[in-house]
Amino acid sequence: MCGIIGYSGPLEAKRLLIEGLAGLEYRGYDSAGIAFFDTVSQVRLVKQVGKVAALKETCEKLQGSSHCGIGHTRWATHGGVTNANAHPHQAGRITLIHNGIIENYHQLTEEFGLQDKLVSQTDSEVAAHVLDHFYKDDPFTAIQELVRRSEGSYAFCILFADRPGEVYAIRKTSPLVAAYTHSGALIASDLTALIPYTHSYFVVPEGELVRLTPYKVQTYRLDDLSKTQPETMTVNWNMDAAMKNGFPHFMLKEIHEQPEAMKNTVLPRLSKGLPDLSEDGIPDALFLSCSQVHIVACGTAMHAGMVARTIMEPLLRIPVTVTIASEFRYQQPLIDEDTLVIVISQSGETVDTIAAMGLAKAYGSKTLAIVNVKGSTIARESQYVLYTHAGPEIAVASTKAYSVQLAALYLITCRMALVRGRYTNEQAVTFLQEFLDVIPAMEDMIRRKDEMKAVVSHIINSPDAFFIGRGLDYAFSLEGALKLKEISYIHSEAYAAGELKHGTIALISDKVPVIAIATQDDIFAKSMSNVREVKARGAFVILVTKEGKDVSADLADVHITIPAVQDIFTVFPIAVVLQLIAYYASLGKGLDVDQPRNLAKSVTVE
Ligand code: G6P
Repeated sequence: MCGIIGYSGPLEAKRLLIEGLAGLEYRGYDSAGIAFFDTVSQVRLVKQVGKVAALKETCEKLQGSSHCGIGHTRWATHGGVTNANAHPHQAGRITLIHNGIIENYHQLTEEFGLQDKLVSQTDSEVAAHVLDHFYKDDPFTAIQELVRRSEGSYAFCILFADRPGEVYAIRKTSPLVAAYTHSGALIASDLTALIPYTHSYFVVPEGELVRLTPYKVQTYRLDDLSKTQPETMTVNWNMDAAMKNGFPHFMLKEIHEQPEAMKNTVLPRLSKGLPDLSEDGIPDALFLSCSQVHIVACGTAMHAGMVARTIMEPLLRIPVTVTIASEFRYQQPLIDEDTLVIVISQSGETVDTIAAMGLAKAYGSKTLAIVNVKGSTIARESQYVLYTHAGPEIAVASTKAYSVQLAALYLITCRMALVRGRYTNEQAVTFLQEFLDVIPAMEDMIRRKDEMKAVVSHIINSPDAFFIGRGLDYAFSLEGALKLKEISYIHSEAYAAGELKHGTIALISDKVPVIAIATQDDIFAKSMSNVREVKARGAFVILVTKEGKDVSADLADVHITIPAVQDIFTVFPIAVVLQLIAYYASLGKGLDVDQPRNLAKSVTVE
């Protein structure tokens, strides 16, 4: 959460900071601000409520040039959305931006007598004052003192008023990446801000201080201030991948990118028609030695886990549990050295997922992370990593990341079945052949997007919508409901179709939209009975089945069919259907599809 950027170099800093913030806006977008050294080396501050575009307009009116500064786009944690709470914050000679939460800020406020000095309600301003208190002309010592006293998570970028041209930074848990490029020294909360200038970067190690000058980015150990040399990494996508490229929204673009992302994730991992994870450094022993699998994740990634559980357990005949990371981390989970903990995260920076993985390691479990962002915290800290190759996902509502997370989970399932003797080679080959059929099926549904567009007129005027399904169809419904509610603000719930009559059916009345998913042959008739139950109570039924199903005309108001892939793979075309319904519902209501209210792409606070 919160986008952070710092710069020192020959380019016009204001413009670079604003452009960087526009790229980082998906991390939070309730207010934005920049601070920079002006032509006479004074620190100037501009911040305001609203999107980066509004800040840009304000900044365009500013005279004079600048070559060093910091910028921030906020997702509010402490204090409402106001100009005063927007970053950067200032105290004495300090100007800083912050991502994270300083948990002991109340205590610091008292300890440093800040009650009457604070102009905002933020923990970040408290940190600025603490830093100012310790700043006696040596930035390093002051930062060491701040770190010593701060509890919680943080990524700080700091300007010291008497040190023009320099940006200092430090992080704990919250991410920061940095690079020295021909265009100057850059630091940011994620790569999208660096990509226009370089493909080489390093992840700021926790507990190391960073100093940016126009000529250098230098890191230092926090304790003895000796210089360090973090490992350089390379990113394999370019700015094009993070642009809309003619699509009106990132979400629509990312929906369209799914077949390609699937190919990139699956095809390199096939060898002689069998799944092969050896290039990823994932040994078969990992799959052989475990007696249970525990999947931990948040949001859409957790929903991918729900689907995986439903296919893994019957196939592998071992317990597979899925837990929300923010719950898992405060439980005493029943895991041990024989448990394989699969952690799923698009960003690799979700703080609850990071903590859950730490807990799993503490229990001695093996960790395997499915991650999209190379070099992210989860990727670095997990024992094993299976990267998804979706490229950057910018829309807050996850789409292509979900599909490739599923693809990775299906590959793992197939490999596990093979090495555990649940599949013969022939069965594994057949599984993968049938699996690959989903790619044209997804393409087909993308081509037919107008069908989903037509459906939303029956949804967008309703305050509620229900998604129902059984078994795997229920697991898909969870993601469908999340997609719809997060970007259309329609209250939507997913329900196991057979459970409806134990309460939820009381909410079904005339014209309430019910999206019924029925793609599983063995329980098709049962699902149809549940559809009949809601239809009988006046629901407007949008039924999604495989093609070729005999559905009586009075059962569905709208019938959407997907290509007849094997039952366990229907999630892939279904995902496209549900994503498009959510997309067009948001669009139909005139909402901000890519940046829905109150949300952010990467959740780096608890
Ligand atoms: C946020 C995003 C979701 C995402 C979830 C988990 O809520 O808006 O799209 O599924 O975080 O993020 P992760 O990066 O760990 O997959």
